[in-house]
Amino acid sequence: MGNCSCGLKPSIYRISANAKSESPNDSTPKDRNDERKLPTNPEEVEYLRRSSATNPLIVFTYDELKTVTSNFRQDNMLGGGGFGSVYKGFISDDKNQELDPIPVAVKVHDGDNSYQGHREWLAEVIFLGQLSHPNLVKLIGYCCEDEYRVLVYEYMARGSVENNLFSRVLLPLPWSVRMKIAYGAAKGLAFLHEAEKPVIYRDFKTSNILLDKDYNAKLSDFGLAKDGPVGDKSHVSTRIMGTYGYAAPEYIMTGHLTPRSDVYSYGVVLLELLTGRKSLEKSRPPREQNLTDWALPMLKEKKKLLNLVDPRLEGDYPVKAFQKGAMLAYHCLNRNPKARPLMRDIVDSLEPLQVPCDTTAEKTDATVIVKNPKPVSGEDAHKS
Ligand SMILES: Nc1ncnc2c1ncn2[C@@H]1O[C@H](COP(=O)(O)OP(=O)(O)O)[C@@H](O)[C@H]1O
Ligand SMILES: [Mg+2]
Repeated sequence: MGNCSCGLKPSIYRISANAKSESPNDSTPKDRNDERKLPTNPEEVEYLRRSSATNPLIVFTYDELKTVTSNFRQDNMLGGGGFGSVYKGFISDDKNQELDPIPVAVKVHDGDNSYQGHREWLAEVIFLGQLSHPNLVKLIGYCCEDEYRVLVYEYMARGSVENNLFSRVLLPLPWSVRMKIAYGAAKGLAFLHEAEKPVIYRDFKTSNILLDKDYNAKLSDFGLAKDGPVGDKSHVSTRIMGTYGYAAPEYIMTGHLTPRSDVYSYGVVLLELLTGRKSLEKSRPPREQNLTDWALPMLKEKKKLLNLVDPRLEGDYPVKAFQKGAMLAYHCLNRNPKARPLMRDIVDSLEPLQVPCDTTAEKTDATVIVKNPKPVSGEDAHKS
């Protein structure tokens, strides 16, 4: 199979529907060299983390994490995806027993996929150990013991944007909350792109944007994040990974990764927020299955634009703001990466579209009940 840096057209199937499936044999010689340098034992990992980290991280033993998650109880499972399962748990401060235990999310990487699992686990420890921003999820600690690779994050009470936006149980997200999410996630990406050593996130999608109880959006899952190009380089050449339906066309074709690849994925997520449709939906008629292909012709024509509005908004949205949001998505989805806006410009364009929204936990929890007779709490949002 052609690799991305040699100019051959790689198979689209290397990008998976749910991201992150790849075998070591797919890697380029350069990747394999990088692989050999990856630290594998706890001391090396700790050394690497200390030499690059600014955020203090707690090192957990696997036994401690069993206690934290009540032995990885299935009822405490918050999600599962590419490389493992995520459980809710609680950690308490041994030195100050009076403090309430803090809720955390514990992501356990699958042992049977250790090659890619370890690589992604390490990327998260290193990137989230260095970066700190209100729109990035906070990494609290990790475990690197025998074959176990675990990450411990701050708990995000409302789960992923995917679970909220496409839920059949929760009330539809109102316009104001959608714009708040778009703005927060854009600020997170802008921060990464403008960091001293720019970072390309590479897997921007609704399941990787998490929401706290007030619907503040934070990027999580830095397993595929990559250092951006440095000096006069325009791109980094890399294996093609990400999620079909979100990945930029030029990245799929050439393996050339730039911050503008994230901007394309951002455009897809913005479209999902505006239309309430998933980036890929096999249950729809063939011409509507790929959201971008379906929406692009309508985005071009002002008269047809309002056909895109999520019917679940029931007309409760400002038309002008919708048009501006749709135009922004249109520019992000330009096939020419250079013609796409910078994340900073997107943040600036979204600022005037922000409307105050009352997202206090008590009020929204009381209104999220649709079909479920029980009040739906933040945790239930994960299971919808
Ligand atoms: N910090 C967290 N708080 C609450 N839920 C989380 C947290 N981290 C992950 N999740 C849930 O688990 C799912 C998968 O997590 P993610 O980090 O994206 O793992 P994967 O590598 O499997 O994609 C998320 O979509 C979300 O529903
Ligand atoms: Mg994910």
